[in-house]
Amino acid sequence: MTGVLVTGGTGKTGSELVRLLRGDGVAVRVASRNPPAGDPDAVRFDWADPATHPAALRGVDRIFLVPPVNAVDPLPLVEPFLAQAQRLGVRRVVLLGSAIVLPNAPGALEMAAQVQARPGWVVLRASGFMQNFLSPHPVGERIRRHGEIRTAAEDGRVGWIDARDIAAAASALLAEPGVEFADQHDYLLTGPKALSYRDAASIITAHTGRPVRVVSIGADEQAAGYRAAGLPAAFAAALAAVEDGIRTGREDRVSTAVLTLTGRPPRTFAEFVQEHALEWTDDGMLER
Ligand SMILES: NC(=O)c1ccc[n+]([C@@H]2O[C@H](COP(=O)([O-])OP(=O)(O)OC[C@H]3O[C@@H](n4cnc5c(N)ncnc54)[C@H](OP(=O)(O)O)[C@@H]3O)[C@@H](O)[C@H]2O)c1
Repeated sequence: MTGVLVTGGTGKTGSELVRLLRGDGVAVRVASRNPPAGDPDAVRFDWADPATHPAALRGVDRIFLVPPVNAVDPLPLVEPFLAQAQRLGVRRVVLLGSAIVLPNAPGALEMAAQVQARPGWVVLRASGFMQNFLSPHPVGERIRRHGEIRTAAEDGRVGWIDARDIAAAASALLAEPGVEFADQHDYLLTGPKALSYRDAASIITAHTGRPVRVVSIGADEQAAGYRAAGLPAAFAAALAAVEDGIRTGREDRVSTAVLTLTGRPPRTFAEFVQEHALEWTDDGMLER
């Protein structure tokens, strides 16, 4: 099969990418631990089980790479996979990386550097996802249950992006590899405007009627909250520390890369909220 392997192919970004590529007539193999039944082009793929990697890679010439989620250091699992892909002559890897670099996580930077170093391989440095404001993400879950955002970021802003715009950018890079966008190996992907948690809460309230208060807490308290929500301790601590960077303005930036790659501007936070309005108002209101 000449086509695209989409790892994380059932997730927020991957599933939209699969839809876009198939809509363009591109052959796609969906990879995840629980492949969708009824999709003949889906395979079981587990980062933690290298025995599942060769079948996923067989015959593909392009890869969308969603690294292991909730891992502080993805490199030990991803590095052998990248080496295998290179040996097999994969022309393009598009890595879903992050604009926000977790403290004490040099492995993520090294992984991005390894991808960028290969001709035709690309890193997408995605800003914070708008979908974080929806359940089951801990931020979204707290809004749904308690009408509250707890943050150590104070009024620091983030260029929140809709995961579907990341998928659209990836699709542009994977549908026609090597023709357009051949020279750039690194894209910062953001939404159209940087917003603080307070800005975001106001927009949710304005479009849904749901009051959302923002409570300032310290990074330690934030880490404890993430652990209680089920995140591994090291990852919870790193995520909480990221809020310090947001507070000091490190993520207060926007780029035009989505427009450049897709020809369309990225979705605004208000558009995202309008499309998902029921998810904040439905049963969440009843549970308060
Ligand atoms: N949220 C943010 O603000 C943000 C910002 C920048 C970058 N990112 C990056 O975005 C990525 C997540 O993307 P997403 O939100 O689109 O995904 P997602 O909705 O969280 O879905 C995760 C996908 O990965 C698969 N998966 C999970 N564990 C796996 C494993 N051990 N082996 C193989 N597949 C596995 C899942 O399917 P199964 O469960 O069936 O395996 C699913 O398809 C993460 O790497 C994160 O670092 C997130």
